Amino acid sequence: MQKSILILGACGQIGTELTIELRAKYGSENVVASDIREGGESLMQSGPFELLDATNYEAIEDVVMHYEIDEVYLMAAMLSATAEKFPMRAWNLNMNSLFNVLNLAKEKKISKIFWPSSIAVFGPNTPKENTMQSTIMEPSTVYGISKQSGERWCEYYFKKFDVDVRSVRYPGLISWKTMPGGGTTDYAVDIYHEALKKESYECFLNEETKLPMMYMDDAIRATINLMESPSEKLSVRSSYNLGSMSFTPKEVAQNIRKHIPNFEISYNPDFRQQIADSWPSSIDDSAAKRDWNWQPEFDLEKTTEEMLDNLKDTV
Ligand code: SER
Repeated sequence: MQKSILILGACGQIGTELTIELRAKYGSENVVASDIREGGESLMQSGPFELLDATNYEAIEDVVMHYEIDEVYLMAAMLSATAEKFPMRAWNLNMNSLFNVLNLAKEKKISKIFWPSSIAVFGPNTPKENTMQSTIMEPSTVYGISKQSGERWCEYYFKKFDVDVRSVRYPGLISWKTMPGGGTTDYAVDIYHEALKKESYECFLNEETKLPMMYMDDAIRATINLMESPSEKLSVRSSYNLGSMSFTPKEVAQNIRKHIPNFEISYNPDFRQQIADSWPSSIDDSAAKRDWNWQPEFDLEKTTEEMLDNLKDTV
């Protein structure tokens, strides 16, 4: 039987590419995109769209009933840098939207959920290199606190109410189709745009800030693979560590120079430096590799080629 999917927050950085990929895979008419605002043309033109506030339970329930939705991907969230400016708004959006979908599943109105967590669940006391699946987690940002709490609630709903919720801790995501909004890892997208536009970039993190990152194609493949895995294989119901590459702004700049030799980078760290300093530099994702065969495909070189190649006609 063909399943029906609803994506909340479909117009954001991940939602846009996820929606397009799910439509290609399951048929456009079976994948309903929704957001509080309209999105780009490729998303709006390729299948059904509903204006929907992820914090409004009744409104989500109506859409779920109308389209006979089986699975929900909850991609609406306020990211780390913006959440520091609007703590209560971030907490309300990030938590209430999650409770809405968890409760829909508890009421048996949907059968499966994807909810993203983040490397932001870790904090300054977490071991930084090869950060393990289970380790010290003392997040020091509003965003990180909301994601860590969300993870606890996911596991709780799985154990108590048999809710089939699945999750990964995304690293910083690099993509060219949609801009990220309000994250600490956004520099790794901005830098490619500015390199093509101006051959220079002023970075808001210092040159040695090493963070875990991932190209969007890998992130989308991981998400869909996890959702398609047999439930009994999944030993983690909070959120899986997900690794790919780690690099510093200096290393991205060196890589860009292979294509744009005159590219120059300068550094002017702001409040996001402190957030980045509290996060891991690299991630141990052996649980994801073992349970659902996770394997990344894009390294920094390949990412740089893809980014510059796809963006060059847009600037
Ligand atoms: N990319 C996100 C951020 O920087 C982390 O999940 O907020």
